Amino acid sequence: MVRLDLAAVLLAVTAVAGAIANTPSTVPGAYIVEYEEDQDSNELVNNLEGKASLRKDLRFKLFKGASIQFEDTKNAEMMAAEVAAMPKVKAVYPVRRYPVPHHIVHSTGDAVQAVLSKRQEGNDTFSTHLMTQVNKFKDAGITGKGIKIAVIDTGIDYLHPALGGCFGDACLVSYGTDLVGDAFNGANTPTPDPDPLDNCNGHGTHVAGIIAAQANNPYGILGAASDVTLGAYRVFGCTGDVGNDILIAAYNMAYEAGSDIITASIGGPSGWSEDPWAAVVSRIVEEGVPCVVSAGNDGDVGIFYAATAANGRKVTAIASVDNTITATLLSNASYTINDTEEAFGFTAGEPGSWDGVSLPLWAVNFDTTDPANGCEPYPDMTPDLSGKIVLVRRGSCTFVQKVANAVAKGAKYVMFYNNAGGTVAVSASVEGVEGVAMVTAAQGESWIAALKAGSEVVLNMVDPLKAGKFITYANNTASGGFLSDYTSWGPTFEVDVKPQIAAPGGLILSTYPRALGAYAVLSGTSMACPLAAGVYALLMNVRGTKDPKTLENLLSGTAHPNVFRVEGESLPFLAPVPQQGAGLIQAWDAAHATTLLSVSSLSFNDTDNFNPVQNFSISNTGKIAITYKLSHVGAAMVYTFRDGSITPTEFPGDLTGDFASLSFSPSEFTIDAGHRKIVTVTATPPKGVDTKRLPVYSGYIAINGTDGSALSLPYLGVAGSMHSAVVLGADGAKLSRASDDNNTPVPANVTFVLPPPGFANDTSYRNQTEQPKLVTELSMGSALLRVDVVPMSKCTTVAQNASTNMFGTKSIGMPEGMPSFWNARGTLEYRWDGKMADGTYAPPGLYKFSVRALRIFGDAEKASEYDPAETVNFRIKYLPAPSTKLRRERGKDKEEGCEEGKR
Ligand SMILES: *[C@@H]1O[C@H](CO)[C@@H](O)[C@H](O)[C@H]1NC(C)=O
Ligand SMILES: *[C@@H]1O[C@H](CO)[C@@H](O)[C@H](O)[C@H]1NC(C)=O
Ligand SMILES: *[C@@H]1O[C@H](CO)[C@@H](O)[C@H](O)[C@H]1NC(C)=O
Ligand SMILES: *[C@@H]1O[C@H](CO)[C@@H](O)[C@H](O)[C@H]1NC(C)=O
Ligand SMILES: *[C@@H]1O[C@H](CO)[C@@H](O)[C@H](O)[C@H]1NC(C)=O
Ligand SMILES: *[C@@H]1O[C@H](CO)[C@@H](O)[C@H](O)[C@H]1NC(C)=O
Ligand SMILES: *[C@@H]1O[C@H](CO)[C@@H](O)[C@H](O)[C@H]1NC(C)=O
Ligand SMILES: *[C@@H]1O[C@H](CO)[C@@H](O)[C@H](O)[C@H]1NC(C)=O
Repeated sequence: MVRLDLAAVLLAVTAVAGAIANTPSTVPGAYIVEYEEDQDSNELVNNLEGKASLRKDLRFKLFKGASIQFEDTKNAEMMAAEVAAMPKVKAVYPVRRYPVPHHIVHSTGDAVQAVLSKRQEGNDTFSTHLMTQVNKFKDAGITGKGIKIAVIDTGIDYLHPALGGCFGDACLVSYGTDLVGDAFNGANTPTPDPDPLDNCNGHGTHVAGIIAAQANNPYGILGAASDVTLGAYRVFGCTGDVGNDILIAAYNMAYEAGSDIITASIGGPSGWSEDPWAAVVSRIVEEGVPCVVSAGNDGDVGIFYAATAANGRKVTAIASVDNTITATLLSNASYTINDTEEAFGFTAGEPGSWDGVSLPLWAVNFDTTDPANGCEPYPDMTPDLSGKIVLVRRGSCTFVQKVANAVAKGAKYVMFYNNAGGTVAVSASVEGVEGVAMVTAAQGESWIAALKAGSEVVLNMVDPLKAGKFITYANNTASGGFLSDYTSWGPTFEVDVKPQIAAPGGLILSTYPRALGAYAVLSGTSMACPLAAGVYALLMNVRGTKDPKTLENLLSGTAHPNVFRVEGESLPFLAPVPQQGAGLIQAWDAAHATTLLSVSSLSFNDTDNFNPVQNFSISNTGKIAITYKLSHVGAAMVYTFRDGSITPTEFPGDLTGDFASLSFSPSEFTIDAGHRKIVTVTATPPKGVDTKRLPVYSGYIAINGTDGSALSLPYLGVAGSMHSAVVLGADGAKLSRASDDNNTPVPANVTFVLPPPGFANDTSYRNQTEQPKLVTELSMGSALLRVDVVPMSKCTTVAQNASTNMFGTKSIGMPEGMPSFWNARGTLEYRWDGKMADGTYAPPGLYKFSVRALRIFGDAEKASEYDPAETVNFRIKYLPAPSTKLRRERGKDKEEGCEEGKR
């Protein structure tokens, strides 16, 4: 399968699903140990001296524990089980890794211009602020003063002039720390230091500017709450991932530093609120600190793809809508048509060796609506393109594919023109190409027109690092104000409402590290989340409360849901709550609402756990009696599955206009000033729908008051049984080779020659060995995935090792790292070097993997609650270990004698 560039998924005219991300990987031998509440010493871990080292001390007010690294990863699983059984230990979790969320870099500015300062005069006209009413606070002089917001991210370039220029007391970035150091990659040992400077990534600096950028910048960028103080908790090194032990530490440190709000634009596919990181964030919210987390950028995968920690209970998950204005930062260059010179702007890509390139344009064809321009190999009659810049329209296939086709005809330079607003920084490192870049759709179309007219168009390119930069703005008529295609969909597998609210996250102009251009336009829920954090600060200023529940209820009740829109076309119904939550934040309305709701959303659960009658209260905190009228507005229903499929349908999904019906008791009533009333809602799921396809219905309860107040409360439910959904198809477990990135299944009875036990990572064995890879396709999430190693030979030693497990299968046990808890749906890849969960190695012989995935809401104690699947038989052998080579070789015959048919 061709992997799409994610940017294309975001902006392309035709939406196609990308590959499903894997469930986050774990760090070998690393565990989070949570102590019982009364334990406040690491004595227990210190007693493991020689076996395990302390990875991270996690003794905090709200979490007592440590993460540890077993030195002998061979026996880690067994020792972890021993630790878990100790009386002072509450739980042990494997350390999981999460990446910096895939965000799209559209364009970056340059540091030269950053020193120019232009103070924004007059009222706030920043487009994302106009969309969310944040401008009204700025105009009224409310700027988040006195509020501390912790940003858990890649650090912050606090030396940036628009981010205060310093770190520490009296600076904008006044607190925080670096938990990991530059060299940290998620798997190695963190080397913390007190300096959280974002010197090599940029994500955190962009996030920080959305919250609090100062007006002294050339592009009119303004933070939502420019007088807050920021805490920078750096949890990523220059490349790689972060472990959830580091995230748990960062959250607790931010909490203990007295942060009023904690924001994190980090996550990975999950769908389970019990995930340990999500559970820790929930705890902090319960202690009174609002935590906003980006909903995730996997919208292409479809419904039921909530990310952790956004999917935690009480955690506010932030969805993304696209900016109404497309800002583009462009490098200045020129072109000539028949010797007449004109200026134009481009966004350099990777590679970007454009310095001094002055060559004529050549285009595959002159069709400026060609959806798949340059996706096919060029015709034989194509001239040698080594002296040309190939002009290609974006769309359908990957940038790499398009560049490869041009390079095949000798091209060294490829200029893309966009098929959507703005530009994108293209990455297409194909051998032979020296420069790639992108111009706007309008620029590309005008060049195509000139070429068509027979003109010669010569581009006079410049080094993007030295080029002058300028900014252009365009109205985003295609998607402005609508949900971003990439925003991840909830709900959780236990039908918790996710996401909560939406904020602008697509095409956002903000600060960037000075070394990387100082300013940049980026897209992602990562960019929506910090705006919501800034809004929380503004609300705290106005309402004088920091209570997470009160503030979330206000933001949810006043948010504006929008219609569903895809490929530039709006459907005649509201986007589903699993996509947009309550809708786009309306901050001023939230700050000034006098009608308060006691909840931020309702879940009616599925049909097995149907909870159709629910109460919530409405408080009238105003000065006059108000008569309220309740009504119901349905949002699009989403069928989770296509007919006959067990895998949820990818974006845009199967949407219908089937609505639930809701009744209210009472539906119209008067509440005196200072009083409240409890209202009962009764839901009836939509009728005549195909329950086997697991329809998710949703909508809003509209609450209109005679004072002009108009609130809406989102709800959702599943008109089918979550438990009846197959989580693992009978063919959902395949066996492949560890070296095969395409996961091609191997035939039965293949022999895998493994490195000697304990030498799996010793490169000197790479040539002679191959590990089996178990590829599990979870069609829906599973809280518990078990894998058994089932002996298929009649070898007596293996047979003696095998015992009958709860499923009635004879198994020698689970392989290392299993079972796996709280699994997202999608592909789970597992490479096996023969090591078992108890630290021993499976004897050579013939085996199969038997996989069982627990159904949603299933009883883990009952075999019938698991979906089974198994692989073909495969044989394993080990190379002899260097020191034991002689001895092993003598025993070799005996081992082989255990194989079936050789007895
Ligand atoms: C600026 O905002 C204030 C407060 O909302 C308003 O009274 C004033 O008219 C605005 N000024 C301009 C120039 O729009
Ligand atoms: C440029 O020159 C070509 C060839 O002489 C001619 O066909 C074309 O119309 C000219 N273009 C412009 C814009 O004058
Ligand atoms: C965007 O549209 C508005 C209203 O139609 C118009 O006033 C404004 O000039 C447009 N802005 C740009 C950058 O095209
Ligand atoms: C749905 O019901 C199940 C089973 O009682 C429960 O575990 C789950 O939390 C419920 N979901 C919600 C959102 O209440
Ligand atoms: C409630 O108010 C909203 C927003 O003003 C309006 O669109 C809706 O029609 C009103 N509903 C009723 C039942 O009056
Ligand atoms: C694998 O080997 C077993 C005997 O060990 C045999 O019954 C089976 O047919 C073989 N399968 C294939 C596909 O070769
Ligand atoms: C080898 O490295 C991989 C990837 O880092 C890891 O999953 C595995 O456990 C390691 N194996 C051994 C024997 O150290
Ligand atoms: C692996 O095989 C290649 C080609 O046969 C050889 O050049 C290389 O030295 C081998 N590497 C090791 C570590 O044996």
